[in-house]
Amino acid sequence: MTSEAQEFEMRVEALTKRFGDLEAVKGISFEVPRGEIFGFLGPNGAGKSTTIKMLCTLLKPSGGRALVAGYDIVDEASQVRRNIGLVAEKIILYDRLTAEENLYFYGRMNHLPEAEIKARSAFWLDRMGMTQWKDKLAGTFSTGMKQRVNIARALLTSPRIMFLDEPTLGLDPQTTRAIRQFIKELAEQGVTVILTTHQMVEAEMLCDRISIMDHGSIVALDTEANLKNLISDGKGAVLDLALEGLTDGMRQDLGALRGVMGLAEPEAGRLRITTNRPGVLSEVMRLVEGAGGTISSVNTLEANLEDVFLHLTGNEMRVEFAQSAPSGHRRGAAGRTSRVR
Ligand SMILES: Nc1ncnc2c1ncn2[C@@H]1O[C@H](COP(=O)(O)OP(=O)(O)O)[C@@H](O)[C@H]1O
Ligand SMILES: [Mg+2]
Repeated sequence: MTSEAQEFEMRVEALTKRFGDLEAVKGISFEVPRGEIFGFLGPNGAGKSTTIKMLCTLLKPSGGRALVAGYDIVDEASQVRRNIGLVAEKIILYDRLTAEENLYFYGRMNHLPEAEIKARSAFWLDRMGMTQWKDKLAGTFSTGMKQRVNIARALLTSPRIMFLDEPTLGLDPQTTRAIRQFIKELAEQGVTVILTTHQMVEAEMLCDRISIMDHGSIVALDTEANLKNLISDGKGAVLDLALEGLTDGMRQDLGALRGVMGLAEPEAGRLRITTNRPGVLSEVMRLVEGAGGTISSVNTLEANLEDVFLHLTGNEMRVEFAQSAPSGHRRGAAGRTSRVR
């Protein structure tokens, strides 16, 4: 990737969106080179969808500007639309049309020649594993099947830039895996991908660069490795404690300890503490046990993106964000846990 101007598929400068008193997007700036998978990672309400909607010309910015595929999103909106595909938050399909008819309708709306619509919809439905259901009504499909058709639809116009707003939200594991794999292949074919997610795993798996968004601002933008280096530069560590008797007071006192950058509770009975000072573990243990809690084990972990997020945004407990960590089953502690006593 060179740094020549024309290699940037997207250039965003101080882009802002206000809804009344609320500044949902607060003057964000970034550039995306061709063929990159660029991620917006952040909790609900961070401003990810609002950003996507502005870049796709569905919402008018309150300030700033952006070039998408070389075109201004306000002054050249129709040229922008001709070069992008959007998989929006909500799946847009007509229930009373078949999979193939949905694509045909979309193709006609976008003035594609009939023969091309047929060829491309057959191709993309096949790539999305939907050929055998192409003549079935979309209304009869599972969410995963609808999303597969929805993605095929977005690709019908051969977009240079593909926007996907939480594309795997609420989907079954098989479809999630297939879609993630497919996103990688798109980028390998030179399509620039802009992806939003509140799942760290998804951002880590897919994105060349990740912009961490919170309260309408990009608080960091870098590769996954560089983001993690922000906090684990040799001084820091993440402590994963199994403990009983955690109280609100204890949480507050732990958060106030010097060297504690963030707290998260990925699952009941566990606490993750991001630290940037060696030796804080002994103080944590003293504090917890002094307040009547019991620590049964401690893991020292490599930082993940959630830790980076907590580090960048302060000690505030972000339950929404913490819940997006993989949980649901307790990970066996054997083998990677050092017993405390
Ligand atoms: N059309 C709208 N009118 C008023 N407020 C909105 C509108 N769309 C989004 N918001 C608000 O803007 C903020 C950012 O929302 P959104 O971009 O949907 O976040 P995300 O996609 O990161 O969850 C939220 O506080 C949301 O309530
Ligand atoms: Mg959203």
